[in-house]
Amino acid sequence: MKILIINGPNLNMLGLREPEIYGKQSYSSLCELIDESCRELGVEHEIFQSNHEGVIVDKIQDAYGKFDGIVINPAAYTHTSVAILDALKAVSIPTVEVHISDINSRDEFRKHSYISLAAIKTVMGLGFNGYKIAIEHLYELLK
Ligand code: DQA
Repeated sequence: MKILIINGPNLNMLGLREPEIYGKQSYSSLCELIDESCRELGVEHEIFQSNHEGVIVDKIQDAYGKFDGIVINPAAYTHTSVAILDALKAVSIPTVEVHISDINSRDEFRKHSYISLAAIKTVMGLGFNGYKIAIEHLYELLK
């Protein structure tokens, strides 16, 4: 079983970025938690981060035939990107959407997610632990 974890724009700035919302831990500590969660389950994985919408679309297209599941935090593209939604629909790889914060209790514009239309599940508001829950959910579905 192989899972692709995709992180969108500004998530590489975790730790520095709005710590009152996203916490004080860095992006590399998030990657460590993801590595550990996958190791515990014996799941192969790749972590990918990009600040560019088209690069994320390319990565999703390239995942076809290579990955069994996707965990994606599209960050700001959650609320704007029909292109990422269409890429996920095109490859039909089971996808879990993750948000570190609770997007339903923040700005009005964050309440709408295009990505939810292609996701089998959305995990939000659980901090970094949401990634672990998303990976476990995919594992249970795919095993
Ligand atoms: C986010 C929520 C988005 O609204 C925001 O643009 C992000 C991060 C989250 O993980 O809580 O960059 O996806």
